Amino acid sequence: MCGVTGYLGQRAAAPILLDSLKRLEYRGYDSCGLVVLNDGGVALRRSVEPLDRFRTVILSENLPGTVGLAHTRWATHGVADALNAHPHSSCDGTILAVHNGVLENGDELRATLIRQGHRFTSDTDSETIPHLVEQSLREGQTMDAAFAALPRRLVGSYAVLLVHAKTDAIYALRRDSPLVIGVGDNEYFPASDIPSFLPLTSRVVYITQDEPLVIDRTGIHRIRQHSPAGGREPLDRLPVILDQNVTSLSKDSFEHYMLKEILEQASTLERLIEVPPEPLAKARALLQKASSIKLIGAGTSYHACLFGEHAFGVGAGLDVEACVSSEFEFRASLLRPGAVVVALSQSGETADTIHAVRSAQGRGAKVISVTNSEMSTLAQMSDLVIPLRSGPELAVAATKSYTSQLAVLLLLDQELAPWAVTDVRSLWKARDSILNLTSTAARAHIAELAHELAVRPEVFLMGRGPHYVTALEAALKLKEVAGLRAEAFHGGEMKHGPLALIEEGAPVVMFYDRAGMTRTEIAASELIARGALVFTVGEQRLRSSHLHVRADDAGKATPIPQIIPLQLLSYEIAKIRGRDPDHPRNLAKSVTVI
Ligand code: AGP
Repeated sequence: MCGVTGYLGQRAAAPILLDSLKRLEYRGYDSCGLVVLNDGGVALRRSVEPLDRFRTVILSENLPGTVGLAHTRWATHGVADALNAHPHSSCDGTILAVHNGVLENGDELRATLIRQGHRFTSDTDSETIPHLVEQSLREGQTMDAAFAALPRRLVGSYAVLLVHAKTDAIYALRRDSPLVIGVGDNEYFPASDIPSFLPLTSRVVYITQDEPLVIDRTGIHRIRQHSPAGGREPLDRLPVILDQNVTSLSKDSFEHYMLKEILEQASTLERLIEVPPEPLAKARALLQKASSIKLIGAGTSYHACLFGEHAFGVGAGLDVEACVSSEFEFRASLLRPGAVVVALSQSGETADTIHAVRSAQGRGAKVISVTNSEMSTLAQMSDLVIPLRSGPELAVAATKSYTSQLAVLLLLDQELAPWAVTDVRSLWKARDSILNLTSTAARAHIAELAHELAVRPEVFLMGRGPHYVTALEAALKLKEVAGLRAEAFHGGEMKHGPLALIEEGAPVVMFYDRAGMTRTEIAASELIARGALVFTVGEQRLRSSHLHVRADDAGKATPIPQIIPLQLLSYEIAKIRGRDPDHPRNLAKSVTVI
């Protein structure tokens, strides 16, 4: 969670670092900081102010220096204050580091370093890193050797960038946390993620696990870890050129990324249908032989797994089960020989999902990942990667990646049971339905609905079968983006308890398709008899609908268009309630800690 970024080049580092931070803000935004080196001097600035304010202050300082690091934080160890903000420094202030991840042996390292005379100024595990390097220097090691020793000392996950005031270079290292290097003309942009530097370069070098690197004016070098003579060798990996689609990062004329990303869904879906990801055929071969299939994901990606349980593999008679990544450890022992795990993750960096996959691999399972980041940690661990190809999703709330996940599951289903020939057709219907739901008229209608719901203390959502999955995902969007208490129920479960919560005027949103209309109408009457206000999302209005949003049926793909009005609704309510839709409170886009 946290974003790290660096710059080494010919230009002033501070403005470039601040722009990069803005583009990494989706990774966490409790506090931020930066350091710029200049002729052996160090300008260190840290703040809990919003990034925009921090940026204005720093820009007014005109900091000189062409090498620097910056960080945006999502607190794990220690409260969000300026002392816990990164960069952290060594006792003498010459070694500075930014870190994303969690050091499991942070307390132990801190205790040892304190015994060795080091003074700590923060509560973070990250601060041990510059002190460890300082300790190695005190013991007579070179800077390169001191940095290259870190993988042997650190337990846990990390993406680390580190500088020394007297060295015109940036050191970089990662384990289980993302870190890449953007390569320009004689300039380098190490960062947690590609969006950080995309407007500046589309050439990227991927860093492998535990590979200590140093970036200087002559290029990127690998530090020899195991040779007694030490030394460096040029990194022989050529930069990858990113494709155009990945590089579209601007908000265009939209006020927020979330809105832009919601409205992109007709085209992201169309792209997937027209040019299905190539690995689908290979996935079929793996899945057909599987003794069982576990779909694993967290948050919205878990909801996609639940959809998969309903819609995927049924025609082919496969045994499919959805599991929440963080709960997988309780089910892992049930994994049968020959099982295949399909891991869904927009970022490919979610720690719980990576952990679950590792444990499944330890039990011999093959892994197919479905992700929006083909070079992510998850992708690199997988036997096969199916790209979502949704383009960068920068709002914290998952929107277009969710509908792409559902679409990929249906395309995969089509591969497994081509005789059904319904999935692709239903995806086209879903695309058409999305176009209607995102029209100006439909959006104005949803904005009206938003005004009704924004003032309610809570919202209930209901659906049966795959539509219950839509209710769950809609409730998540209303919680995280709109900040509303929202609870999803199985349609048939209302009478078994939840009805006790229904009072006069309680809003209940119901999702259904044509086949489920009659039963939904009955449930709606029962709710209305107890005072509920029923809002409906489906092809036809119920007799009892207070307000209805028309979302045309799209066969098996119906949950794809049906989530769109709720994404829009959450966005509109967030605005009415004065919340930033792109940056929900206390959340980060990729949750890289367990
Ligand atoms: C969705 O809106 C959330 N921000 C969150 O639940 C997210 O889906 C979850 O953290 C999983 O992320 P991933 O898809 O990148 O693995």
